[in-house]
Amino acid sequence: MKKGVEYTGVVTKLGFPNKGEVDCREDGVATVKGTIPGQTVRFVVSKKRAGKSVGRLKEVVEKSHLEDVTPKCPHFEFCGGCSYQTLSYKNQLSLKKNMVKDILDNAIKSEYDFEGIIESPVQWEYRNKMEFSFGDEYKDGPLALGMHKRNSFHDIVTVNKCRIVDEDYRKVMDCVLKHCSERELPFYKKLKHEGYLRHLLVRRTTRTKQMIVAIVTTSDEQWEKQAQLDVMVEKLRALNLEAELCGVLHIINDGLADIVQSDETRILYGQEYIYEELLGLKFKISVFSFFQTNSLGAEVLYSKARDYIGDTKDMTVFDLYSGTGTIAQIIAPVAKKVVGVEIVEEAVHAAKENAELNGLDNCEFIAGDVLKVIDDIKDKPDMIILDPPRDGINPKALQKIIDFGVDKMVYISCKPTSLARDLEVLQQQGYKVEKASAVDMFPGTVHVETVVALHRTDL
Ligand SMILES: C[S@@+](CC[C@H](N)C(=O)[O-])C[C@H]1O[C@@H](n2cnc3c(N)ncnc32)[C@H](O)[C@@H]1O
Repeated sequence: MKKGVEYTGVVTKLGFPNKGEVDCREDGVATVKGTIPGQTVRFVVSKKRAGKSVGRLKEVVEKSHLEDVTPKCPHFEFCGGCSYQTLSYKNQLSLKKNMVKDILDNAIKSEYDFEGIIESPVQWEYRNKMEFSFGDEYKDGPLALGMHKRNSFHDIVTVNKCRIVDEDYRKVMDCVLKHCSERELPFYKKLKHEGYLRHLLVRRTTRTKQMIVAIVTTSDEQWEKQAQLDVMVEKLRALNLEAELCGVLHIINDGLADIVQSDETRILYGQEYIYEELLGLKFKISVFSFFQTNSLGAEVLYSKARDYIGDTKDMTVFDLYSGTGTIAQIIAPVAKKVVGVEIVEEAVHAAKENAELNGLDNCEFIAGDVLKVIDDIKDKPDMIILDPPRDGINPKALQKIIDFGVDKMVYISCKPTSLARDLEVLQQQGYKVEKASAVDMFPGTVHVETVVALHRTDL
C-alpha cells in the first residue's frame, strides 16, 4: 500500500478501542480508526509504521451487519463522543466482550475463566460528569459548546441533545451557550493562545440528584467584565432542574495545554462539592476528583471487584490508585485495615472525609505517587487492589507491588491493552490469572472496564 493512495476493503477485526483491521485483498491490510467489523470502508493511507499501513477513514461504503439500529442521538453523525450508536446494545456488548477476550487470551498464558461482559444497568443518560469545550462548528462560525467533531482537533459540535446525559445537562448547556453568545464572548483559540471561554464542566449525581457547574476561562479581565458571570449564575439558578444546583464555579486556566486545570477556582454560588451514594456509602466529590462517570455502572463494577476480592477478614488490604477512596471504603467494613494511595491530594482529602462520613475508622489514605509512597508504608499488605489510570502501572512501581509477595491481587483496568502488558509481567513473576470479567460502564462509546483476579502460584 502506498501513502496518500485511497483503498477500499472490509473490516475483519477490531483492535482496542476502535482500530479496525481492513482487508483489501491483494493490496494488503491496513489499520483504520473509527470502524466496525463487517463494514466496507474507503480510506486513504496516512502513515506507514514498521511496514504496516495506517489509514484515515473517508467513507463507510457499506454498513456492518452489527449496525442494526438508528442512532437515538441527533448529533451522532458528527460528534466524536459516541461511536457505537448504530449498534443495538446487545451487539455493542458482544463487540466489547470479544475485543477484551481476544486481548486477554493473547496475554494470559494459562487456563483462566473469562466470565463475559456485564451490562450497564442504564444505557442512556448515565453520565454523572461531562466536560464540554467552547469553540466553533466551522471556521469563524457561531459560538459552539459541546464535544469535538469526530476526528477534528478544532471543530466543536454543540451537543444540546446528547443522549448519554440527562435533561438537566442539556438545560445547563443551552443556558450557558445562550448567555455567552449574547455577551459576544470569544472562545479560547488553542493555537494562538487568545480568547476567553475554554470549557464547561458539569457534574450531576444519579442517586442524590445534586449538580455542580464550572465554567473555565482564561484570566482576561476585559472579557471578564463583559461576561457578567453573576448574571449567568442567576439564569442557571432560575432553570427548572430535576437536580439541586449546589454550586457554580469559575475556574481560571491560562495553561497552554488543552486540558482542564485550575490556576484559581472562584465560587460564584454555593459550594465546591456535591455528594453521591454508591452501594449504600456516601462520597463527597469535587469537579476535579476522579469518580466513575456512570454511578449505577460503578456499583456493578465494584460489586464484581468485591466478588473477586473475596474474604478479607483480618486482612490488611492496599487500594492502590484509590481516587476518592471508593473501593477502599467498600472493603473496609470487612477488612482489618485498608490503605489507599492516590496522587491527587484533593482526592485523598475527600477520601479521608468520606471515610469519616461513612463511619469507617480502619482506612488510611496517603497522598503521593504509588512508585514512591509504597516504600514508606509501615503496614504490610495481605492483598492488593489495583485500579490505575489508562496507561497502566509504571514498570518500576509494578515491580515494587510484586515484591510485596501477596497471595492475591485484583486488577481493575479501563484500558485492556495496558492491562495485558502488566499481566505479562505479573505472570512472569509468579502470578496466575484466575478469572476475568469485562464490565460495560460506557454504553454507546468504545470504552470498557475489565476486572481480573490473580493469585500467586510460586509460594
Ligand atoms: C482509574 S482511577 C481509579 C480511582 C478509584 N479506584 C475509583 O474507582 O474511583 C485512577 C486513579 O489513579 C490516580 N493516579 C494516577 N497516577 C497515579 C500515581 N502515579 N500514583 C497514585 N495515584 C495515581 C488518578 O488520580 C486516579 O484517581
